[in-house]
Amino acid sequence: MESKIKDLNEKLALAYLGGGQARIENQHQKKKLTARERVLYLLDEGSFEEIGALVIHRTKEFGMEKEVFYGDGVVTGYGTINGRLTYVFAQDFTVFGGSLSETHAEKICKVMDLALKVGAPIIGLNDSGGARIQEGVRSLGGYADIFYKNVQSSGVIPQLSAIMGPCAGGAVYSPAMTDFTIMVEDTSYMFVTGPNVVKTVTNEEVSSEELGGASAHATKSGVAHKTSANDVECLEDVKKLISYLPQNNTETPKILPFKLQDEIRESLSTIIPDNANKPYDMHAVISGIIDEDSFYEIHKDYAENIIVGFARLGGRSIGIVANQPLFLAGVLDVNSSKKAARFVRFCDAFNIPLLVLEDVPGFLPGTDQEWNGIIVNGAKLLYAFSEATVPRITVIIPK
Ligand code: HXC
Repeated sequence: MESKIKDLNEKLALAYLGGGQARIENQHQKKKLTARERVLYLLDEGSFEEIGALVIHRTKEFGMEKEVFYGDGVVTGYGTINGRLTYVFAQDFTVFGGSLSETHAEKICKVMDLALKVGAPIIGLNDSGGARIQEGVRSLGGYADIFYKNVQSSGVIPQLSAIMGPCAGGAVYSPAMTDFTIMVEDTSYMFVTGPNVVKTVTNEEVSSEELGGASAHATKSGVAHKTSANDVECLEDVKKLISYLPQNNTETPKILPFKLQDEIRESLSTIIPDNANKPYDMHAVISGIIDEDSFYEIHKDYAENIIVGFARLGGRSIGIVANQPLFLAGVLDVNSSKKAARFVRFCDAFNIPLLVLEDVPGFLPGTDQEWNGIIVNGAKLLYAFSEATVPRITVIIPK
């Protein structure tokens, strides 16, 4: 028995090393934490229970039988964040570049299944070169299973993605099916095809950062809901975001302690200019209403003519949707409609009441808007508000 336990401990020690010390150092040199370090930072100390630490891949082709790493490139399990049960998977770039094999996918599917079964959030820490090339179509089948589970979980448990390294090919689509995506600046990027393929097919010259870096996705595509300066800030952002959300769609978010801010509320009487054509920053109105420092803005740098985000009122989570007169006079256009519609639907699914601060001149006219589908995209926002059954309060300021 003793020798078996010794053998087990030796294997676990190897699993904790992922792809080995040299690759770990390489990861650190890139200012990235390893998958295991990320999980341990994210979860409450001592709470992580790992699942599948000794899983290995099944590939025999291309000499793969000689390259075996316990865990197969993904750390999976569960633990708590501020005492709340959370399931997590973290792709390990030190093992085949975090690429997705059949068994790697099975491990992710297992924690997704468990999270859905018990009704707890799932957080994916992504750092992956996409489909494991040596496995071909078996790897693609793994993606299909993950996508299916993303859809089954949608609107039932919160699904959060952090992009903490490359995310290429199939690796981008599961995060895109989750509720929120946070990207680390400078070290992460997401694209379906990288710069070399882009150059071959369209003759465009573009760097990885320009094509799919955090800034591109936070400002141009809207794929990223938030960016963080580094790994630690990203994990803190994930923890903060989860604090506004319930465990699942049958629960309400936890009420947190708060203090009254009467002196701030007085400032509300001076924020709005007497002249209706003069712009003002709607953020000042928001912070005048909510619990101090409780605003967690989503899509801050995308479609800035509308503001969306979570906040607290008397310690309770609310969703805020507000026109922003500082940008395009707060008009509704294609991107702002999509941004707000998605947010409203999320809040409705997870029992988060909505506060709407409205100051809008209407929809933006023009061929660009019409040809880009302002009709269908505007309809998404109307649909989302009409469908929502959570409490909604709309304040018209001033038009
Ligand atoms: C197997 C991979 C891998 C992959 C990286 N590695 N990607 N192994 N399958 N997809 C391995 C490398 O061989 C290397 O092994 C280690 O991971 C680190 O990779 P590097 O290239 O040295 O790192 P870096 O320079 O940082 O570049 C990272 C990268 C690049 C940009 C992700 O590795 C890359 O372009 N990988 C391939 C991307 C790709 O084409 N993916 C498949 C997409 S198809 P060693 O042993 O040297 O440490 C797809 C279809 C899905 O996903 C469709 C679903 C709908």
